[in-house]
Amino acid sequence: MSYHNPYTPPRKSATFDDYTLAEIRRAAATGIYDIRGAGTKRKVPHFDDLLFLGASISRYPLEGYREKCDTSVVLGTRFAKKPIFLKTPITIAGMSFGALSGNAKEALGRGATIAGTSTTTGDGGMTDEERGHSQTLVYQYLPSRYGMNPKDLRRADAIEVVVGQGAKPGGGGMLLGQKISDRVAEMRNLPQGIDQRSACRHPDWTGPDDLEIKIMELREITDWEKPIYVKVGGARPYYDTALAVKAGADVVVLDGMQGGTAATQDVFIEHVGMPILACIRPAVQALQDLGMHRKVQLIVSGGIRSGADVAKALALGADAVAIGTAALVALGDNDPRWEDEYRKLGTTAGAYDDWHEGKDPAGITTQDPELAARLDPIAAGRRLANYLKVMTLEAQTIARACGKNQLHNLEPEDLCALTMEAAAMAQIPLAGTSWYPGKGGF
Ligand SMILES: Cc1cc2nc3c(=O)[nH]c(=O)nc-3n(C[C@H](O)[C@H](O)[C@H](O)COP(=O)(O)O)c2cc1C
Repeated sequence: MSYHNPYTPPRKSATFDDYTLAEIRRAAATGIYDIRGAGTKRKVPHFDDLLFLGASISRYPLEGYREKCDTSVVLGTRFAKKPIFLKTPITIAGMSFGALSGNAKEALGRGATIAGTSTTTGDGGMTDEERGHSQTLVYQYLPSRYGMNPKDLRRADAIEVVVGQGAKPGGGGMLLGQKISDRVAEMRNLPQGIDQRSACRHPDWTGPDDLEIKIMELREITDWEKPIYVKVGGARPYYDTALAVKAGADVVVLDGMQGGTAATQDVFIEHVGMPILACIRPAVQALQDLGMHRKVQLIVSGGIRSGADVAKALALGADAVAIGTAALVALGDNDPRWEDEYRKLGTTAGAYDDWHEGKDPAGITTQDPELAARLDPIAAGRRLANYLKVMTLEAQTIARACGKNQLHNLEPEDLCALTMEAAAMAQIPLAGTSWYPGKGGF
């Protein structure tokens, strides 16, 4: 006879928690892996684990109302004849037309232009709405080559060669059939309604030497005018940055694992790549070792939400940041006003991530004309511009409090770390000490 202990409550496994059990059952029932949008949902070391020290007796703060603190940045100063001038170091990351509706792309362009920053195309080519409404537009050159043509290369203000993305380093893009409208199909030169899986590597190169040749080709096509960015997912930031610089990049874009995606396997989003916090210092170190810090600019992304995040990224040595997910939220993504419809889709505002299905109630990650029409590109653009302004002011406030008259004068010395992990990854002393783990190498 078994003995039931009345004092011990049923005990669930921390390893096999409710979510894990549900996922096993889902996989067993369907035989297909989970695909979703957005970035990692697990908690990883992040900018929240760093704090600014601010000025006191040993540092002298700037007076907000009288003393200037410059927020501008110039990108592409290494080789390009026409570098890009931005009023704020917060740029809009590449997000494809196809993943996003035409109205969403237009709203991104409008918002970025009001704020004096750039926006970026994505894995699907350049639309006229986007070009028309974006004062500064970066054109992505991706492994898929969807929508790629020399005319659009020349219409762009900069070119971003995408080697990888933080949400899926080593993986290619996905756009499922539900979202392949006639227009998306035509732009990508592929059949309507069929799932598209873009390549994970460029068809005509296998390594850094080929990348150098490709960058040279792009410079020739664009008369050496446009800055050439190289975007990599956060995996081996020291070597990837060094190789991008060697291949001739004007700007390196480094995207950490928190970075959003339109659609990929959940297992990829949660288990591949490194948090952006762990990527910045090795990348900056590579630039410094090559004598290229501030000469080749570094843009970082992955989970950036506030002016504090921006200021911390810059203090660690970045020149600018890019935002994807936060920009979509500012447009109206996951807005609680659509809660009834999120419920019908089996989710809730703040958790909706089935962006690949094209049923977005907010009209952002969809190609359904009726849903897309819900997003007013003018009003959404204004919301994005407001958000960019607030983040810029927040970063500026912090910089002044640290005594800096330029955001880029923020430095590691202005920071302390709250946790051992953050201290080790960001190479910032643990609060109250002058020490961080692992001094002396990567
Ligand atoms: C809806 C969506 C679509 C995206 N499409 C692309 C793309 O076409 N090309 C690309 O390089 N990155 C793409 N990304 C990744 C972003 O460029 C960027 O790296 C990422 O969103 C930054 O992290 P954040 O979302 O946490 O700000 C996409 C991201 C989202 C959210």
